[in-house]
Amino acid sequence: MTAKPKIWVARPLFPEVLARLADYFEVQVEPEDRPHDAAELRQKLAGVDGALVGLADRVDAAVIEGNHRLKVVANLGVGYNNLDLEALTRAGVLATNTPDVLTESVADYAWALMLAAARRVSAAERWLRAGHWPGSNMRFDDWMGLDLHGRTLGILGMGRIGQAVARRALGFGMPVLYHNRSRLPEAVERECRAILVGKPELLARADFLVLVLPFTAENRHAIGAPELAQMKRSALLVNIARGGIVDDAALAAALREGKLAAAALDVFEGEPVVHPDLLALDNVVLSPHIASASGETRRAMAQLAADNVIAALGYGESAGKPPTPLNPAVLAHKA
Ligand code: DGY
Repeated sequence: MTAKPKIWVARPLFPEVLARLADYFEVQVEPEDRPHDAAELRQKLAGVDGALVGLADRVDAAVIEGNHRLKVVANLGVGYNNLDLEALTRAGVLATNTPDVLTESVADYAWALMLAAARRVSAAERWLRAGHWPGSNMRFDDWMGLDLHGRTLGILGMGRIGQAVARRALGFGMPVLYHNRSRLPEAVERECRAILVGKPELLARADFLVLVLPFTAENRHAIGAPELAQMKRSALLVNIARGGIVDDAALAAALREGKLAAAALDVFEGEPVVHPDLLALDNVVLSPHIASASGETRRAMAQLAADNVIAALGYGESAGKPPTPLNPAVLAHKA
């Protein structure tokens, strides 16, 4: 009997997904959820044919150099700024991600953050848990937040998630403006009721600005002090995209100085560390990168990553045709 291929799973995953992988592979699963540094990743990937990695695991040229066994790296997430796609392609390693399955959940979460920050849900809960309200020490004009209905929603980055955020705006009676590298087809614009504008106009007109763009070198600090200065003082910023797209220090200063009303952030520059100035502010809602974390969606993401590895290594119904390749040139080369 020939030995099963080996795969490495960088974080504990659902038992049913691990069981499916174990049908085909010898599976090594990390017992703990934590990022791995370059030296550790290099060592973990050295003896395996495939891997499922987390967004905090940076797989670059140095990590895979000289590794002639590795054939596939499946990212447990849609964003893949942790993967050096060029290096993987050069090395003939297929990279995959988990698009589509998380679109609606992440869009739901963008609205959860918008509502929470606008209506000051987290701060009010902190106040209540601290023992306030019994005997009613609350004034009629306490806890006044911002309305969403009728305000303008701005979306920076109008891919699948941006569009899903936009579609939800109809229920809130919010007109939608967007800015994107390229204009959406007219039918999609109509369905999303979204109007393309330049970035300066988006910054100036949005009452709620949601960031949904990928993290690339050119998008680093796409929202920094100059951009924040162009926004309304009454505006609210939501980042569900990636840390580093916003200059967190500049954002904290703007929030502290009343140059921006509020913010809600699911991602941070240098996460899991959060800028201390943000932690000190009450007009920002913070969450630990959980926009896709509904039970159904996280399961679907893990299944999709597993499907990719199974197919990439030549097993299952879709053998040789992984569902969501990032560098399909690798497959073409092998065909
Ligand atoms: C992803 O998958 O890239 C998202 O950040 C999940 O929230």
